[in-house]
Amino acid sequence: MQVFKEKATLQKAVRAIKSKGKSLGLVPTMGALHKGHISLVENAEKDCDEVVVSIFVNPTQFDNPEDLKKYPRSLENDLKLLKDSQKELIIFAPNPEELYGDKIASEQFDFEGLEKVMEGKYRTGHFDGVGTVVKLLFEAVKPDRAFFGEKDFQQLQIIRKLTQKAGLPVEIVGCPILREENGLARSSRNERLSTEEREKAAFIYETLLKVKRLFGIKSAASINSWVEKEFKKCSFLKLEYFEIADIQTLKKINKKEKGHKYRAFVAAYAGDVRLIDNMALNN
Ligand code: PAF
Repeated sequence: MQVFKEKATLQKAVRAIKSKGKSLGLVPTMGALHKGHISLVENAEKDCDEVVVSIFVNPTQFDNPEDLKKYPRSLENDLKLLKDSQKELIIFAPNPEELYGDKIASEQFDFEGLEKVMEGKYRTGHFDGVGTVVKLLFEAVKPDRAFFGEKDFQQLQIIRKLTQKAGLPVEIVGCPILREENGLARSSRNERLSTEEREKAAFIYETLLKVKRLFGIKSAASINSWVEKEFKKCSFLKLEYFEIADIQTLKKINKKEKGHKYRAFVAAYAGDVRLIDNMALNN
């Protein structure tokens, strides 16, 4: 495993790979790696000759400076986890100045409304920060393919829009959500839940499974109010939003239309831990 902190040395290694005609995959992460990230790496290893994993806690995507300060940084542990990978991975772990230069700030993007709904309503400027860092990482690494988890489905669609609008020559690959045994979507935040909370948080997944069943027979509007009532009965979780949305526009729907694909999206708090999840409703 090679670990690069500087763009110039990373790019030298990338040029050597490309000169041999090999394909390059990128798995962007903010560290605090768990099995969900490892499954992204495995997908990249299957699809590409060589794989870069970036580990970078991106300051511009945090709307709250306290969250940025508290974000777990565990490079040594992350490297241990990545050691057992199938391929000799390349790790890119720059500091903020190395990646951003002097100006650590977000570019302003127009993602055609994708950034305004759901997470975008609750996390001001978040997707500008994500777009900025992903673009910088693509420029530094020049991957043929980049791998993102469907757990952050809104982020995935926004990155697809970013590459399409900016004409970036990289294929975006969405990877399925990895779940704990009880169905809870894997996330670094799960570590902050007690064992009991972690068990109870499976309620989110169980509700999404019921929504999927109901979707075939009930209207979107009636499912919305059913979900709100279910969450009200569950004293342990506080629902922030539930939406059934078109996967292309991410706009909330009230009526299903033929030929469109939909997903259900949830954000809920377990104490002060914010959990998100989503599920495809018609594959
Ligand atoms: O999903 C994440 O971990 C981050 O938003 C990403 C894509 C690595 C950008 O910082």
